[in-house]
This record gives sequence, C-alpha cells and structure tokens, in this order.
Amino acid sequence: MVDLKTQYDKISDEIDNAIKEVIESTAFINGPKVKDFQAALENYLGVKHVIPCANGTDALQVSMMGLGLEPGDEVITTSFTFIATVEVIALLRLKPVLTDVDPNTFNISIESIKKAITPKTKAIVPVHIFGQCCDMDAIQQIADEHGLYIIEDACQAIGSDYTGKDGRKKKAGTIGNVGCTSFFPSKNLGCYGDGGAIFTNDDALAKTLRSIVNHGMAVRYHHDTIGVNSRLDSLQAAILEIKLKYLDQYIASRINAADYYDEAFKNQPKLKTPYREPHTRHVFHQYTLVTHGIDRDKMQEYLQSKDIPAMIYYPVPMHLQKAYVDPRYKPGDFPVTEELSRTVISLPMHTELDSEQLEYISGHVLNFIQS
Ligand SMILES: Cc1ncc(COP(=O)(O)O)c(C=O)c1O
Repeated sequence: MVDLKTQYDKISDEIDNAIKEVIESTAFINGPKVKDFQAALENYLGVKHVIPCANGTDALQVSMMGLGLEPGDEVITTSFTFIATVEVIALLRLKPVLTDVDPNTFNISIESIKKAITPKTKAIVPVHIFGQCCDMDAIQQIADEHGLYIIEDACQAIGSDYTGKDGRKKKAGTIGNVGCTSFFPSKNLGCYGDGGAIFTNDDALAKTLRSIVNHGMAVRYHHDTIGVNSRLDSLQAAILEIKLKYLDQYIASRINAADYYDEAFKNQPKLKTPYREPHTRHVFHQYTLVTHGIDRDKMQEYLQSKDIPAMIYYPVPMHLQKAYVDPRYKPGDFPVTEELSRTVISLPMHTELDSEQLEYISGHVLNFIQS
C-alpha cells in the first residue's frame, strides 16, 4: 500500500545525518530534536502547542485524561473508524456512544450526533477519515449548544485544511479543543516507528497534557497528576523534522495519484470514486472506492493475485466488534457504516506512485469490473 523505501532513498542523506546527530548527542529522550520538531510542527499547523507523544492512540487517551473526562462520561464518535478511537474511550471507562457516517465523505453524520446526545455527553470525537475534515462548523455548533469538548482524531488527516463558514482556513486537528495525530510509518507524515502528537491552542490544557505524557510530572520526581510514559523518541523527532519539510509535496503527490484514479474510474457505474468535500482539502491518506454490484472480496483477491495490495478499511464496524459487543447496539443500527464495510476497497496510495504503476493498478481494477 505504501513505498517507504523509494521515499527514503530520495532524502536518505538528510535522514542519515539527522539520525547520526541524535546518536552522537546521546540525547535520546526529550532531546533538542524533539523541541525542534515540535516548534516546526507548531509553525506548519499554525497552532500554539504541539505535545509530541508515543503514538496516535496515546494522543487520544492523553487528551481525554487532560480534559478531565471521568468514568461514565459519554463520548460520541463514529462506528466507521480504526479501533484506537473507541479503544481509549473504553480503556478510560468512559462510555463510547457510536454514530453512523455520511455516505459521501464517510465522516461522522451530524444528524447522528444530534440523536446521540444525552445529559451525560461530555465530548465528541470527530474522525477525519481517510484524509478529509468533518463538518467542523456543524460539530462546533452542537458542542457550543451542549457544552461539549471536541477532540479531533486527525490521525489520518495531517496537513488537511478546513475552511470555516467565516472563510478562515485551519489545519486538521487545530479546530477543536484538542487534536490528535499519528506518525505511524504509513501515515501522510510518518516516522520510522511509532509516534504521535496532540495539538491545542489552550495554554492551561497544553501544560496538563505535557505533564501527563511524562508521568504526570512538571518538576522532576514531583507528580501532580496521574500520567503515562508516552514520549516521542528523539530519533523519530529528527526523522519527522526532515519529513515535515516535504509534507506538502507528499500531499501533492497523493492528490495527483487520486486525480489519476478518478479519471480512470469516471463513468464506471460499479465504482464510486471518493467524494471531495468543498470545505476541506482531501489529503488522501487512503483512496477508497465504493463498489456496486460486484463481489468486493473477490476484487481484492484478484488485485492481490496481480501483486496489487488493495485493502479493506474497515471490514467490521466498531459496534459489531467482538470486544465491544454492547446491548445498546445490533446489526442494522448504522446502515451507512455497515454498507460501507461490505462495499469499500482502498487502492495503493502513497507518494511514490508513478504513471506506470497507476496505469497497471487502474487497468486491473477495470479488467475485474468489466469481466
Ligand atoms: C483514525 C485513527 N485513529 C487513531 C489511530 C492510532 O494511531 P497509532 O497507530 O499511532 O496509535 C490511527 C492509526 O492507525 C487512526 O487511523
């Protein structure tokens, strides 16, 4: 699905030097490279505070801890996401309240959020799925009306823009009270291991979050809150600082690949190409087709037989996952999500796709649907 080796080869001198610098400095934990990357990312995102941490899952968990959410508090999120979003809610003994999604963007459905609100609701976690932002104006309005926090799961959407009703452009993850991202290697800004970060414009919250990721300590060996050990390694920060310079170029390559696929699959009634919402820049973490009237799993098998690693994100919605079985939910509750789980397929999407590869992949997709 990704070609990290070719991407690395193009910037290997810079990366190797940055890694060597960290090793020679021996500042492996919370070294200057972490601060440098943090500052560079704050500047790129136009946000006051970036709190680096160990991965995107921790970013979500620490955000919920930092906002003071307590057992039993209800947190609304989507059933069409990666498990981490729901996992941390459950781990903290909060109550995940799931919703359906919009059939075009696959992002959280605004009507579904409205229906899910109760007096116990404390937060909404919109997931900017596959790389384009949710309808943040509508979500903000609901949050304001009900006094709720917004925790953006921007793990798949770093670099995506959102243009609000007021015409102001903001980056994904910098719109709600707090935003979370992942630097998992295949992400749009990926490191060479695990990594993550939290974003906020709230000074007091930033201070709390910074302490939580480091054992709840602001002054060494003085622990004011219960924390976790969730730091971004200096080596990963050094790699990310280099790769951040190329992020917009990487996004442009992904959009080019998406444009190619869109053109190849236009006017194919069996395939619905990704809808691009005008209020946001889709950064194509995934290029996901919705299939009609074909056996999606057979299509995946066929593509795999041609060495095309097409993937299904996500085959089982959160409300139907074994670990999350809950009497509140049953099959059929979220029809859009369930239909997507049966019909979507994601094609290879990365920064190094050349026209020959794109032609090969789309040619085989067309072969399958026309056979
Ligand atoms: C939507 C979403 N949320 C959370 C995460 C968790 O990030 P990580 O794998 O860095 O813990 C991911 C990453 O896969 C994700 O895609």
